[in-house]
Amino acid sequence: MASGNKMFDLTGKVALVTGGASGLGLGIAKAFVQNGAKVLVGSRTIDKVEGAVKELQALGGDESAGGVALDVTNDASAERAVRKAIDLYGRLDILVNSAGVMLRKPTFELKGEDFNRVYDTHVTGSLRCAQAAGHIFREQHSGCIINLASISTFVDLIEVAAYAAAKNAILGLTRSLANEWAKHGIRTNAIAPGFIPTDLNRKMIENTDRGRRILEHTPMGRFGKAEEIAGGAVFLASPAAGFINGHTLVIDGGYLASGIGDSFAPWATPEK
Ligand code: NAI
Repeated sequence: MASGNKMFDLTGKVALVTGGASGLGLGIAKAFVQNGAKVLVGSRTIDKVEGAVKELQALGGDESAGGVALDVTNDASAERAVRKAIDLYGRLDILVNSAGVMLRKPTFELKGEDFNRVYDTHVTGSLRCAQAAGHIFREQHSGCIINLASISTFVDLIEVAAYAAAKNAILGLTRSLANEWAKHGIRTNAIAPGFIPTDLNRKMIENTDRGRRILEHTPMGRFGKAEEIAGGAVFLASPAAGFINGHTLVIDGGYLASGIGDSFAPWATPEK
């Protein structure tokens, strides 16, 4: 860094980003590379992974990024991804659990197997990857895990019960790991993004009534961008966050702070 301030510097760090071939995971991977880290991107579709790796290498050079086929619903696949980070870079310092799926369905119609699939991807998937990476972190006596929570961790979003249940469980998992693994030098935190249009939710929120209502309840009056979530991830992974453990960083343009969402109502905005 030009200023000599290394607080947010990730030089020498190696990160595995699950679901890193698109959306927030890719945004986080880019920011990590831009701040000096080497990143292994893991996702199910290898073509998507290779495309992401090219984008990252364009930012940081050939050494800065690699890819691995990863299905977080599979134990052996999670272990292989961690092993690949070690084979390629000799260490692993940061795990970002960004693999995720959305399921919108009225809850009366929600089948158990759909619920379990969503839960398995978000929660058990994060646990699998945390365990695989955790063995390395424990040996090194240092490591950082960042889970992706959600606004639905804190407030109800209608017709996404499986997703909301999974994201509530992410909070519990984050706190459990933060509590249990701190003694191994491992910090575990979460980011709860507001609404960022990605492949996960674009159809639900872009140019829809639901999207318009969300914007009315967002004091900043706009959706977020992947790089605005990535800033939080760089912070949590960096030396600047060295004493932050078990925290969930909300990055939502004020959505949660807006309470019942009256911030855009005429009586709440007298200047308009
Ligand atoms: P996205 O759809 O762009 O990214 C999710 C990625 O996970 C995709 O590339 C997908 O192929 C991958 N994936 C799905 N199942 C997988 C599996 N079994 N194994 C490996 N990879 C798998 O969506 P986005 O928005 O980037 O989501 C990333 C995380 O952020 C998710 O956990 C999501 O719930 C969370 N999030 C996103 C918000 C948003 O507004 N976009 C808001 C709050 C949370």
